[in-house]
Amino acid sequence: MQSTSEGVSASSARGQWGSKLGFILAAAGSAVGLGNIWRFPYMTGENGGAAFVVVYLVCVAFIGLPLMFNELALGRRGGKDVIGAFRATKPGTPFIITGICCLACCFFVLSYYGVIAGWTVGYAIASLLHKKMVFEEFAARPEFVLPLFGLFILLTILIVQGGVEKGIERWAKVLMPVLIVLCGVVIIRSVTLEGASAGIKYYLHPDFSKINGDVVMKALGQAFFSLSVGWGLMITYGSYMSKRQDIVTGGIWVAGMDTFVALIGGFMVFPAVFAFGLAPDAGTALTFKTLPAVFDKMPAGQLVGCAFFLLLGIAALTSTISMLEVPVAWLVDEKKWTRKKSAWLVGGAAFVVGIPSALSVGGVEWLTKIHFAGKTGFLDIMDQIFGTAIILLICLLASVYVGWSWGPKHAVDEMSASNSWFARPLVGSISPATVWVLFIRFICPIVVTVMLLNMFGVKFF
Ligand code: PHE
Repeated sequence: MQSTSEGVSASSARGQWGSKLGFILAAAGSAVGLGNIWRFPYMTGENGGAAFVVVYLVCVAFIGLPLMFNELALGRRGGKDVIGAFRATKPGTPFIITGICCLACCFFVLSYYGVIAGWTVGYAIASLLHKKMVFEEFAARPEFVLPLFGLFILLTILIVQGGVEKGIERWAKVLMPVLIVLCGVVIIRSVTLEGASAGIKYYLHPDFSKINGDVVMKALGQAFFSLSVGWGLMITYGSYMSKRQDIVTGGIWVAGMDTFVALIGGFMVFPAVFAFGLAPDAGTALTFKTLPAVFDKMPAGQLVGCAFFLLLGIAALTSTISMLEVPVAWLVDEKKWTRKKSAWLVGGAAFVVGIPSALSVGGVEWLTKIHFAGKTGFLDIMDQIFGTAIILLICLLASVYVGWSWGPKHAVDEMSASNSWFARPLVGSISPATVWVLFIRFICPIVVTVMLLNMFGVKFF
């Protein structure tokens, strides 16, 4: 198959990353997206500021990363799509349900993620045209939001169907560093605004009394969302890795880059939020309300704003490509559909399913006001169900599968095949592999189960 990175050779039946860098860039391209610059700041703002950041970092290091290794090892050993990976490693296993959940999550999240990505394009165009946008007014206008959403899905389909990923990956290599430089420019402006210090304090000085079960659950959910863990994405991308490539250091790089960009996202938003007297818990709209105000106060702010939102759109595009890739890889691998047919069908369906999300931020009243699972508005409800709850379930099932059903030894073999220290005893007879097995068999499933129970109202703390 053709894949989503320049490293993948389009000629072989199933692609393979050509280099370690190819994999890291593609996986980091998937991980770094709206989750870092849009979702992370508003989640932080809604859940207590710096205390949330601390919990988030712990979740990334101790739960997210072990689970990322888990998916990559399973994916490479299986050498297949999200369903095939389970079938190949243990024929007949009921854990195949995990793969089905992965397909559902990627599809449904694509349907609302594309809407938000469309907003970034709208903001880029508005900056260019020197138009001031009031978020609520813009998001409530279907005549703007729907075409932009459609355009974004169309771009995603075109890239995935044509295997033009070579281009995207090459562009991503240039554009991701440019995005980071631009983020740097925004941070400098943001922290030098009058009154910014209250925001820096909010972001950096944790008030641990703010931590409760709900905050931990949100932080864990955000870690999975941002790292692209719990979606079968790393299973799919792991299946394109060669045996020579190191899963462990590769995973650490991807998680490190993703976390770095998320932290940067907060530094752009919070100083400005406080300087402009906005509410840090403004929710979904936070980034879109705050940053234009920052650009307004900059020399050549319109240009910087346009470039910034365009690049954010591109970061989102490397994520939507990977979301579409998961179901497409399954249809190509297992149903023997052509890549083109799969991409158009799944992408087209995601557009149709995404329409209610697109209309739910003011566009249609009942979709905006609908209340379910503690969330208001269709888009937020989708995010809660697919972007948070089912992801937790997938992480639980994947860790139980590897830890208890397939057997962690196979995964350890897979990881140590290309990493000499992973299985080597470092302290007494304890190797990093021993610690990883402890996490995958006990700590990850227990923590994720507690979080799932918490979500369904069984509160432990
Ligand atoms: N990790 C992406 C982000 O932070 C979202 C994503 C999840 C992309 C799963 C692909 C697969 O925006």
